[in-house]
Formats: sequence, structure tokens, C-alpha cells
Amino acid sequence: MRGDLEFTSMTNVNGLIRDTANAHIPVMDRGFLYGDSVYEVFRTYEGVPLFFDEHWTRLKNSAALIHLVIGLSKEQLLSEIKETVAATGADEMRRDVYVRYIVTRGEGELDLHPEPNLTSTYVIIVREVPKWNPEHYTRGVALAIAQTKRNPGNALDPNIKGGNYLNNVLGVIEARAMGADDCLMLNAAGLVTEASNSNVFFVIDGELVTPSQQAANLRGLTKTAIHEVCRAHGLASEETEIGLDRVRRASECFVTSATREVMPVHTLRVDDSTTLTFPEGGGPITRRVAGYYRDHMAEHIASRRDLAMF
Ligand code: PDD
Repeated sequence: MRGDLEFTSMTNVNGLIRDTANAHIPVMDRGFLYGDSVYEVFRTYEGVPLFFDEHWTRLKNSAALIHLVIGLSKEQLLSEIKETVAATGADEMRRDVYVRYIVTRGEGELDLHPEPNLTSTYVIIVREVPKWNPEHYTRGVALAIAQTKRNPGNALDPNIKGGNYLNNVLGVIEARAMGADDCLMLNAAGLVTEASNSNVFFVIDGELVTPSQQAANLRGLTKTAIHEVCRAHGLASEETEIGLDRVRRASECFVTSATREVMPVHTLRVDDSTTLTFPEGGGPITRRVAGYYRDHMAEHIASRRDLAMF
């Protein structure tokens, strides 16, 4: 495998494939004007999209939550993704790819209320898999609790994986200004929700826990898979309310997402006077979970060769 070759990112807009730098959407597209869109991100392993069906199901759910009709089928989407991957040449190089696909409500008038019968727009961005700083695994990431609160679920449901990320953007800007890599966001009641674009787990009093859905966070596919593998290995993982009193007792912490997998957290800045430190490279439970998840991914990939891009 020629693993070190670079390829050019390509983007497919409603079937027109161009290099990403020259791909464009009309300024009247509601995705651009209002963030009126839904999206998913996955990466491939050995050419196989991880959790392709699950991403599609979540996209449909996000679309239903914003009353958006998706104008293409799962099969059409897969075939368009494959064409876009082929246009990058990554398949010939047998290089894995990052895929972000977005469906917007389409072009309309300057009016918040969408006209009926708009035609949705799809955009598929194929690019290199992000290369995380290796220290984020050997040591861990630094999180800081942001003052910006996570949107409440009854204002903007975090299960709408949509194009409106300003809440998270403000959180991460705050965290970077404090010298951290990412934010940890609380809700208005002071309960932990998630990081800017990943879910969070803690080991508290020896138990593996992650914030419950009621706290307002996206039901991550990585998080869901982790619950499954932990159950299969007899390791309890609970969704529960996590306030700062419990966070202060945590002995381990990690974040999860499609592109990060299981990434240890090394420090968590709680406030001006408190920064918690967790084991470098993840504590024993974090390492166990990372191992279970890697094995689970390998099984999934082996079982879905039918979807392979190369
Ligand atoms: N982000 N929470 C938020 C707000 C997210 O945007 C994401 C995903 C997650 C983790 O979900 P999953 O395990 O299904 O990737 C949690 C993607 C990766 C992104 O925006 O790049």
C-alpha cells in the first residue's frame, strides 16, 4: 500500500464533482444563509465506510427533526460518494478517506420560512483522514469547561446533526483562548453535555459514565458502539447526570467521535483555580475501552466489505 501519498480533496455538489477549492454552492442556498442543513461524517478503514447504515439512519432522523426532505436515496448517496472518492484517486492509491456529506434545504428566497417544494442540495466532501497530533493519544487532549452553555434540547435538539454549529464554535474559541485543545460544555443546569464535536466519558468512583441524553448531547455513533462493546465484555457503561461535584472525583476521561475513535483526555480545566489531571495516554479503563472499540471496528469492517470504496 502506498500509504504516504497525498491526494487532492474533491467535492460533489448535486452530482458535479470538482476539486474542493473550486467547488461552490449558490449564496441563496439555505444551508449557507441559515445553517439550514443536516450532515454526517465518517471515515473509511481499508476502504470500508465505518457505520455507513447507522450514519444514514441518523441523517434521516436529523432531517425529520427539521422537516427536511432528503432528495436522494441511501443507494444514490453511496454511489455518489464512490464517484467522488474515485475522482480523488484515493481508491487507486488504496488510501483511506474522510467523507462529510451535507444535505441542505436548497435555494430559496431570503425568508426564514422555507417555501414548500424546495429541492434539497447535497454536498459530498472527500479528503484526507485528519492526522491528529500523536500526542493527543500518547498523552491526551486538554479540555477546558466553557462559560458558553450547550443549547438546551428544547431550543435546538442536539440530535439534529445540522449545519448550525455556532454554539460549539463559541465553546471551542473560548477553550482555545484558555490554552486548551477543546471545550467541555455544560448545560444551563450545570450538567456536563459533551465536547465541541465529540462525546465525553469519565471514570467516576470506578464506574464508566457518560452524560445522559437529557443533558443535551448528540447521540454519537462511537458512543453507542462503545456501550455495545462494553456490554459484550461485561464492563458497565452508564448514561447518567454528571455535575461538577462528580467530575472533580473522576479518575479518567476520554472523548469519542468518528474520526478520533477513543481519545484520552489528559487535563480538564474546571475553573481558574482547578485543573484536573488524568493518566497520560489514558488510564486502565480508557485503554480497555479503546482496545474493545478497535476490535469492534475491525469486525464491522470485515463484515461490510460489500460497501468498500476500493
Ligand atoms: N462530529 N457531538 C457532536 C456535537 C458532534 O458533532 C459529534 C461528531 C459527536 C460524535 O459523534 P460520532 O461518534 O457519531 O462521530 C458528538 C463529527 C465527527 C464532526 O463533526 O466532524
